[in-house]
Amino acid sequence: MLILNKTAGVFFKPSRRKIYEFLGSFHFHPGKLFLHKLVLGIETSCDDTAAAVVDETGNVLGEAIHSQTEVHLKTGGIIPPVAQQLHRENIQRIVQEALSASEVSPSELSAIATTIKPGLALSLGVGLSFSLQLVDQFKKPFIPIHHMEAHALTIRLTNKVEFPFLVLLISGGHCLLALVRGVSDFLLLGKSLDIAPGDMLDKVARRLSLIKHPECSTMSGGKAIEHLAKQGNRLHFDFQPPMQRAKNCDFSFSGLQHVIDKMIMQKEKEEGIEQGQILSSAADIAAAVQHTVACHIAKRTHRAILFCKQRGLLQPSSAVLVVSGGVASNLYIRKALEIVTNATQCTLLCPPARLCTDNGIMIAWNGVERLRAGLGILHNTEGIRYEPKCPLGVDISKEVGEAAIKVPRLKMKI
Ligand code: KG4
Ligand code: ZN
Repeated sequence: MLILNKTAGVFFKPSRRKIYEFLGSFHFHPGKLFLHKLVLGIETSCDDTAAAVVDETGNVLGEAIHSQTEVHLKTGGIIPPVAQQLHRENIQRIVQEALSASEVSPSELSAIATTIKPGLALSLGVGLSFSLQLVDQFKKPFIPIHHMEAHALTIRLTNKVEFPFLVLLISGGHCLLALVRGVSDFLLLGKSLDIAPGDMLDKVARRLSLIKHPECSTMSGGKAIEHLAKQGNRLHFDFQPPMQRAKNCDFSFSGLQHVIDKMIMQKEKEEGIEQGQILSSAADIAAAVQHTVACHIAKRTHRAILFCKQRGLLQPSSAVLVVSGGVASNLYIRKALEIVTNATQCTLLCPPARLCTDNGIMIAWNGVERLRAGLGILHNTEGIRYEPKCPLGVDISKEVGEAAIKVPRLKMKI
């Protein structure tokens, strides 16, 4: 196994014994014939160690994932060195489990695809080092993967979706709107100027101490907000959606979060409780926050659809909007988006929940897409580095803003 020496920025190899132990642990299946090309995908860009084997036709032969959510929930956020250590402890087992489940030996793989950008440097480094070792041992082509591109193309594994289509990625770390024109052809229409909606919902949930709520203690912040919102009345609070005057497709959530923080503080005073106790109005706040976030996301997406249709970038009659990322599992936000797609004659598609969040399948599938298109397949990995920051595609968000499209008001009756 290779370990990244962060300060020196070079790779060095630990004991060969560990490598042989790893290789010796595979059960080979002599005589089994695979008709299709097979790609192993490895994902470690944030807090999930994940791997999967997917064949050329999109069959998932095996997958495994180790989630660090529980650990990070306790520390109130991701601590990069902790995430790195957990990736190191789990990557070998996870890759082995994915290969064993698929009954594929490393020598039978057509390529190894791994997330190398964007993400947490320390996390990306573990996946890349491990993958390069496998590539070197088994003399396989290497396919570097852009994490966002992988999220965006996942829908093509489960649905027959042709290019071009619009994608909205909303999670704890991502928030962007992009037009997908090909396997590696993206136009970025807008992104969050500060934090992602999942990050904001996590922060609000933490401020409301929802982890102490008996019904929410094991839920992520966003899920806890969605759960509690069902019991609340959103009309008890009036939060304004952000950036109402900016006629572009960018997002912002930190200003709104600040307003909510102040409101919570005021409510704590009114109810005479300390920070850390649960407000009696927590469910109402959750409902109002969720509604405001949904309206903000819906409005920017509505403008992106209109822009693409105006410019002939999307088919007027068969436009598709794909929504993915952890926040896409929120049914209230989905309904808000459904109102938009109904009003604009678009089809709304979401990958199944387990493919919306980070996973190894999407990385393997992106490897398959690239293999089929003959794009970005490396036979020499010299000089390959991970890139913590990396934009998605060509950024045309300025042009979108200059078009200043006025979005018709829609009744958000959800
Ligand atoms: O895609 P994901 O697993 O990881 C990344 O952030 O990349 O997304 C996790 C985020 C967290 O912020 C979590 O609070 C949010 O997705 N989330 C939700 C829901 N389930 C997870 N947000 C709103 N509603 C949900 N039901
Ligand atoms: Zn992600």
